Amino acid sequence: MFMSCHQIENRFSKIYLSSHADILPGLVGDRRVVVITDSNIFDIYRDELSRYEHIVIEGGEENKNLETAQLIYCELMAMGADRSTLLLGVGGGIVTDVTGFVAATYMRGLKFGFISTSLLGQVDASVGGKCGVNVDDYKNMVGCFAHPEFVILDVDMLKSLPERELRAGMAEVVKSAIIGDVELFEMVERRATESFYDDRPFMQEIVARSLSVKVSIVESDERESGMRRLLNLGHTLGHAIEKCTHAVNHGEAVAIGMAMICRAAKQKGILSSGDANRIIELLDNLGFATDITISMSDILREVKLDKKKSDSVLNVVIPRSLGRCEVVSMEYNAFVQMFE
Ligand code: GLY
Repeated sequence: MFMSCHQIENRFSKIYLSSHADILPGLVGDRRVVVITDSNIFDIYRDELSRYEHIVIEGGEENKNLETAQLIYCELMAMGADRSTLLLGVGGGIVTDVTGFVAATYMRGLKFGFISTSLLGQVDASVGGKCGVNVDDYKNMVGCFAHPEFVILDVDMLKSLPERELRAGMAEVVKSAIIGDVELFEMVERRATESFYDDRPFMQEIVARSLSVKVSIVESDERESGMRRLLNLGHTLGHAIEKCTHAVNHGEAVAIGMAMICRAAKQKGILSSGDANRIIELLDNLGFATDITISMSDILREVKLDKKKSDSVLNVVIPRSLGRCEVVSMEYNAFVQMFE
């Protein structure tokens, strides 16, 4: 159980699990603040956000691009924002990724902070310093590592989210649990068939535990040259699935990707049937459709295109047991063989 303000220690950003209204004024002090948010969040928190200068962008992955960044640069210039201005990204992963990118590049860098409003953002995207935008169909092709001064994770803000979006965030919670927190896995497993999104202490605990897994990995490998790749469990297939169909969101694609890699690891004798079945059952109980109808050849074609773009081997995260995964570098053909 957490106190009203719980802080997650790390060397990059101050991360607070707290009511944003209680903590924000002290964090921004008397600095000039420009809020960057999307139209959905602005509609919900209009009264609060209107107290600050603000720039409202359109949400959606299709708007996470250089045009949106350019629009923000131009508005910041028109406002006369300078290096002493604090940019405050208020929103989910798209808003925070774009805000971080703009903050890191406008006038060669401003300070910035986040109030993360989606579960996916709270357990993953808002922490770890990855900022960037998509180019054409390729996700996060242009970006940088830059850490916000602070991140506020206020689970009460999740109440405005539709259940499908909350579930998408749960995919990243399950991912963190499989990578490094068996107790978290068991906590979610016990509640998976119930409605738990309104249980504040439970949500605070799963957000804190998921982030703790991420933070300890990022502290040892900020630039993703080794261990940080573990955070891509389910993502090699997940990204390919997202390219094959717009019918699934990122969390759903990652859930399907995790189920597929677990089935493959079980079939090859790398992961025990017991652990593989528990993971797949948990994803099913949370409401993910892990049996999809997209053909394996279409998914693998996208994996191949992705690999070609980065011109390197695939770094595939293989689950070995609950709480223990391994990054295996392999050629595309070896990856294909995992699914034969
Ligand atoms: N979302 C994976 C990472 O931050 O590395």
